[in-house]
Amino acid sequence: MREVPIPSELVNRLRHARQVAVLTGAGVSAESGVPTFREAQTGLWAQYDPQELATPEAFRRNPKLVWEWYAWRQERIRQAEPHAGHRALVTMEQQIPEFSLITQNVDGLHRRAGSHQLVELHGNIFRAKCFSEDRPVENWSDDGEIPPRCPRCGGLLRPDVVWFGEALPAAALHTAQHAARTTEIFFSIGTSTLVYPAADLPFVALGLGATVVEINPQPTPLSPHVTFSLTGAAGEILPALVNQTWEAA
Ligand code: OAD
Repeated sequence: MREVPIPSELVNRLRHARQVAVLTGAGVSAESGVPTFREAQTGLWAQYDPQELATPEAFRRNPKLVWEWYAWRQERIRQAEPHAGHRALVTMEQQIPEFSLITQNVDGLHRRAGSHQLVELHGNIFRAKCFSEDRPVENWSDDGEIPPRCPRCGGLLRPDVVWFGEALPAAALHTAQHAARTTEIFFSIGTSTLVYPAADLPFVALGLGATVVEINPQPTPLSPHVTFSLTGAAGEILPALVNQTWEAA
């Protein structure tokens, strides 16, 4: 497959960069077979709108349904594998002195690919927390009750992900905002740039004079403002970017 040509000016800036921040969205997991957020749900869950299930109200109304929806998503994600785009971001982390990978994705694929400097802005679907205490729960007895109960207080367990209308984890957001304010190059990859405060991060970097690069097959509200717009799939463009910046050096 012919490799996608990367603008030489971008290659040059990336080769000499000390600080790089990357924001990823569901588009980066699409090529691993994990549906993007605004793509139609499939199968049993087709009749449910994620915005109807991923809320505290939905959980209060029907905790069993919400827990089972996330269990179904966990099963789909377990069958997925990180792709060459995820692995290219691991290489970038190894090459750049101060690198931050900020993800909106809850699927854990960046971690499975080997990324370490990872900020999970919207949580992680494989972690659970107590709905009453809002504190993580590592282990619980599986007595068949759905959802399971908190071993500390007996409250219901819920996925440790950010639901609509909920605040993002403060420490993760603070780290992400600091990275956006201090980076030389900001990549926005596979996100529709619709959901705040994550969507604000590339604009913060732009406002402070950073080089902003978007990788997406479709235009987004960020597209008219970026320094470089690489139109296409993350799984194709990221390996080409890494090869032309470091391997070919
Ligand atoms: P979306 O589903 O809103 O957007 C996915 C983006 O990925 C779109 O812009 C697609 O064009 C792009 N895309 C699709 N395939 C791609 C590929 N192979 N390579 C690169 N890009 C591709 O997903 P997000 O922007 O991540 O929040 O959604 C942001 C947040 O909205 C999610 O984290 C979730 C949802 O509400 C919470 O759950 C709190």
